[in-house]
Amino acid sequence: DWKMDAFVENTIAEIREKVGNGRVLLALSGGVDSSVAAGLLSKAIGKQLTCVFVDHGLLRKNEGDEVEAIFGPEGQFDLNFIRVNAQERYYNKLAGVTEPEAKRKIIGEEFIRIFEEEAKKIGTVEFLAQGTIYPDVVESGLGGESAVIKSHHNVGGLPDFVDFKEIIEPLRDLFKDEVRKAGLELGLPERLVFRQPFPGPGLGVRIIGEVTAEKVRIVQDADAIYREEIENAGLDKTIGQYFAALTNMRSVGVMGDERTYDYAVALRAVNTIDFMTAEAAEIPYEVLNKVMSRVINEVRGVNRIFYDLTSKPPGTIEFE
Ligand code: XMP
Repeated sequence: DWKMDAFVENTIAEIREKVGNGRVLLALSGGVDSSVAAGLLSKAIGKQLTCVFVDHGLLRKNEGDEVEAIFGPEGQFDLNFIRVNAQERYYNKLAGVTEPEAKRKIIGEEFIRIFEEEAKKIGTVEFLAQGTIYPDVVESGLGGESAVIKSHHNVGGLPDFVDFKEIIEPLRDLFKDEVRKAGLELGLPERLVFRQPFPGPGLGVRIIGEVTAEKVRIVQDADAIYREEIENAGLDKTIGQYFAALTNMRSVGVMGDERTYDYAVALRAVNTIDFMTAEAAEIPYEVLNKVMSRVINEVRGVNRIFYDLTSKPPGTIEFE
């Protein structure tokens, strides 16, 4: 793609000119936008870039290691990579908290605190880079419908708590499909470039009620099975967004000769054009049935599976 080629070349030249021999800090979430920003900056300025990746313990199964494999020392990019394993810290902060907005707030604030701590350790950094894309600029972080209904947490959007000379936003003129093209151009893996949306607060909004390490384990394992079976059925390219969530409901069941009293997992899959409205996807019954039987057999603590038929509105795509 000659246009993307030119974009990548031009942007690299612009970044070099702007940054000189200064240092740049980027909050890397592992999502498409911040990953493409990291790739561009790395090509432009190498080790003058430091990426801070906060693993909040609310990522999908193995996701933290996948991000590290791409951007860490064994990966393909020249940059400084800092992974902060903050799982325990988040679980402690979230213990006993059940109100959805309170959870979102804690997750967002803790992120800023950790990022600030890491920035202080690094010392003088002249530039803060962000993976802001054109639709974010247009919505100016406020106009988005989700921002009104739910406080929106996006790892790209940090308040200016540290005195940076300048903000660098290399993707601010691009639409999402252009960001993906740039990602491919930079050699990022397809599974990252075409990854479905994942909310900043992560599994925190897919676990209804209190978040605990045990609930995170359950929803991660159930979700991994669900995604695997959707891929096996060849449906992964046709459904807009799909994931498992953990309801806060426990009910009685029977396993062998034993009575169980375990959690119910909800499977969600939606088709949507703009994420403002959505409809439940029609997944073939055999696929749902296979997921049901695998999750119940393979994930300890689950004895019931629901498929969420709700459209948006009245439902939202995420659960909190
Ligand atoms: P809802 O649940 O509001 O979600 O129907 C609409 C779309 O936005 C994603 N989403 C988020 N993305 N930070 C994000 O970066 C957030 O806090 C957040 N909340 C929801 C959601 O996955 C869906 O694609």
